Amino acid sequence: MNTQPKPKILVARAIFPEALAKLEESFEVRSNQADQIFTPAELQKELSMVVGALVAGSERIDANALALAKNLKVVANISVGYNNFDVPAMTSSGVMATNTPDVLTDTTADFGFALLMATARRIAESEHWLRAGHWDKWSIVNNPLGMDLHHSTIGIIGMGRIGQGIAKRALGFGMKVIYYNRSRLSETEEKACGATHVSKEELLRTADHVVLVLPYTANNHHTIGAKEIAHMKPTATLINIARGGIVDDVALAKALKEGKLFAAGLDVFEGEPNVHPDLLKLSNVVLAPHIASATEKTRRAMVDLAVENLRAALDGKKPPSLINQELFTG
Ligand code: DGY
Repeated sequence: MNTQPKPKILVARAIFPEALAKLEESFEVRSNQADQIFTPAELQKELSMVVGALVAGSERIDANALALAKNLKVVANISVGYNNFDVPAMTSSGVMATNTPDVLTDTTADFGFALLMATARRIAESEHWLRAGHWDKWSIVNNPLGMDLHHSTIGIIGMGRIGQGIAKRALGFGMKVIYYNRSRLSETEEKACGATHVSKEELLRTADHVVLVLPYTANNHHTIGAKEIAHMKPTATLINIARGGIVDDVALAKALKEGKLFAAGLDVFEGEPNVHPDLLKLSNVVLAPHIASATEKTRRAMVDLAVENLRAALDGKKPPSLINQELFTG
């Protein structure tokens, strides 16, 4: 009989009950199925008691969070984006950082495209119009009139896996695909998604629909602000499924209000879960509560991958999606 105590881990947000039960077979789990987000002090205390943790974007893992975490070996993010991690602080504390790439690519690209369609074709606004009893005012000219996607130009900023997924979907709509990315794709990758690399300025100037899919970093803060919006067509739509902070939400709300931009579709916001009140007042913006990866199958796959990362790190193996690779010397 194994008399060894089970290693202690933290599951900082609610996860699927079966996934939790499976973890409990091998670990003593400090779970948070009530899903009350920890304060920084609570998180620091929780991390001081465990060897591994599963977290999401709501948990900021920085030097302060790690200050008492003497036995912590791994923090597994249930998310592909990891701007909630201070990776250098984690590395210098010897804490492996992992994320969940690949398993959400298609689901997130589907959502990006859905948000683009909803925004350009004013689907949410039209539904509100119908619910408000305006259908009897239907007319050739008086419906909420949208912008076409087919045969228009889509400009994608950030051409990683999800950006390429959106480009491939756009091809099916006969769209011209242009992109801007810090590093250019290989010729084969460009061909696979029919995309042409252009400067950011050219993209903003010529795209009918601009889709943001780049990771959040200090350098990418306010990639789209008043100056960039001024370069865009007043008939253009802007879609942000990347991260809050990539867009200056105040400048965006002002531009939308003043008719300098046709419409915006936003899944992410500065200061989530709060949304800037100016955005809430506008009808030409479609708002979603950070749900790009939210299908049952994909959220389960994300949790499973995060668990696989955590288990590997605690078993002395290389986690499949280790971010700070220098910590694995085995
Ligand atoms: C991610 O994985 O980064 C998504 O934004 C979470 O839904």
